[in-house]
Amino acid sequence: MTRIIAIANHAGGVAKTTTTLNLGHALAEQGSRVLLVDFDPQASLTESLGFNPDSLEYTIHNLVLETQPGLTVAEVIQKTQIPGLSLLPSRIDLAKAESQLFSEYKREQILADLLQPVLPLFDFVIIDCQPSLGILPTNALTAASEILIPVTSDPKAFRALKQLLETVAGFRRKLNPSLHLSGIVVTNHDGRTQLGRQMLELLREEYPQDVLPVVIPRSVRTQESSALGKSILTYQPASPVSQAYRELALELTKHAHAA
Ligand SMILES: Nc1ncnc2c1ncn2[C@@H]1O[C@H](COP(=O)(O)OP(=O)(O)OP(=O)(O)O)[C@@H](O)[C@H]1O
Ligand SMILES: [Mg+2]
Repeated sequence: MTRIIAIANHAGGVAKTTTTLNLGHALAEQGSRVLLVDFDPQASLTESLGFNPDSLEYTIHNLVLETQPGLTVAEVIQKTQIPGLSLLPSRIDLAKAESQLFSEYKREQILADLLQPVLPLFDFVIIDCQPSLGILPTNALTAASEILIPVTSDPKAFRALKQLLETVAGFRRKLNPSLHLSGIVVTNHDGRTQLGRQMLELLREEYPQDVLPVVIPRSVRTQESSALGKSILTYQPASPVSQAYRELALELTKHAHAA
């Protein structure tokens, strides 16, 4: 069965997009068929895979807002340069979903329905969410079988996490009872500062079952790679960040076997 993982956190800049891209690349490298879904109007994931959203004929907004009757999801999916990794791209027009879907019947179900026909083609579908708890992330959490929460080791992210976990619990009760928390992954971690180390310790104390053992270290190479339209696994395959994303991929695969 296809695992659908939403990478979500309403806090901005916690490495949701970086994690979607590099976890996806690592899973593809390990032999899985992976579809990345850019579900953020900022389209950072689309750009960090080297695509210019404005030059694409179709993006996910055409499907969500039904601008082209008869358009299929398969026609919108792009193959990337990474073997085994495909992308459902986005662009700024997806921002119209918030107002246009407001009164739509079953509006939180749209992404789940549109992904359905291509699920047999992939082992993993990984959805990059925008930093909000609005209609788009709600769609992602309805479509998903799992949520993976990236957090940075700073006090602001820690407070947001508490709120997010409460929201996820409410979500499970009301919209998607089978949504499973695959874990909290600490990203962009600076282990050289005392604050960084203390925050990591605090996170592990507070959420011992959920904080994953692998920690993604901070490295300026990560910013460089996304600016160049590449994953860190392509740009610096042997770097500690690449290795950490490979470990994260292995860990997630292992958890599925244990389940
Ligand atoms: N391990 C890392 N080391 C250094 N910089 C990182 C690391 N991971 C992410 N970054 C940088 O942090 C910034 C935010 O990352 P990213 O865009 O992935 O976050 P996001 O949660 O998707 O943001 P948004 O909420 O805006 O969608 C980017 O500039 C990214 O390159
Ligand atoms: Mg992002």
